[in-house]
Amino acid sequence: MLQDIPTPIQSAERPRARFVIETERLMLRRPTRADVPAIARLANDRRIAEMTRRLPHPYLTEHATEFVDALAAQTTHGGDAVYLIEHLHSAVGIVGIDWRDAASPELGYWLGCAHWGRGFATEAARAVIDVAFDDHAIEHIVSGARVANPASRNILEKCGFQWVGVELHRFEALRSSTPVDRFRLSRNVWSSLKNWSAATRHEE
Ligand SMILES: CC(C)(COP(=O)(O)OP(=O)(O)OC[C@H]1O[C@@H](n2cnc3c(N)ncnc32)[C@H](O)[C@@H]1OP(=O)(O)O)[C@@H](O)C(=O)NCCC(=O)NCCS
Repeated sequence: MLQDIPTPIQSAERPRARFVIETERLMLRRPTRADVPAIARLANDRRIAEMTRRLPHPYLTEHATEFVDALAAQTTHGGDAVYLIEHLHSAVGIVGIDWRDAASPELGYWLGCAHWGRGFATEAARAVIDVAFDDHAIEHIVSGARVANPASRNILEKCGFQWVGVELHRFEALRSSTPVDRFRLSRNVWSSLKNWSAATRHEE
């Protein structure tokens, strides 16, 4: 999941540099050292840590610094695939694709609690999914949500992900393992959703 500190991946594929993505309401860009205080403030909430696998709690400035520096150190597409989400020039969360398994990239996201319930996560997830399928010859993207996380499940389903099973995963903040619903979005489904335009009715 995205909350993992990414490690450089080995890949022959060099994607086009794409550091900023604009959506209707959001700007997605690569986080920098200047964003460390905002990331630490947003992430330091048990409600987020308990839904993400490796986000520590409490989440300290050092954790945010390590996260930003690990992204900056990457020279392959892993570093380009994780974005700070901004709304009206303020950081609201993180979204991205974890490419450590390049054949099965994994979508992850979290938002500061004050920003929940406005559709931001769905909007941000759709943007990075589009970039991943546009730029890479992948056949699917995977993701997961704790069984006890209906909001995240809802986001994945709205993006076209289909449920594939349940796995047990360890969650750092819980200090134990818990069931996680696993989901998969195939290129076929994504492409079908993108091309599904509305029919026009005409009076006979
Ligand atoms: C999950 C999370 C990203 C959702 O962010 P968000 O911007 O509020 O999400 P969205 O508004 O785009 O979509 C959430 C959807 O779930 C629905 N939802 C929210 N809470 C729900 C609940 N308790 N039960 C059922 N549906 C729920 C919302 O109504 C919305 O669906 P709709 O657009 O059809 O109304 C945010 O809560 C978060 O960061 N949680 C902690 C970290 C986390 O869970 N990350 C994902 C790890 S898998």
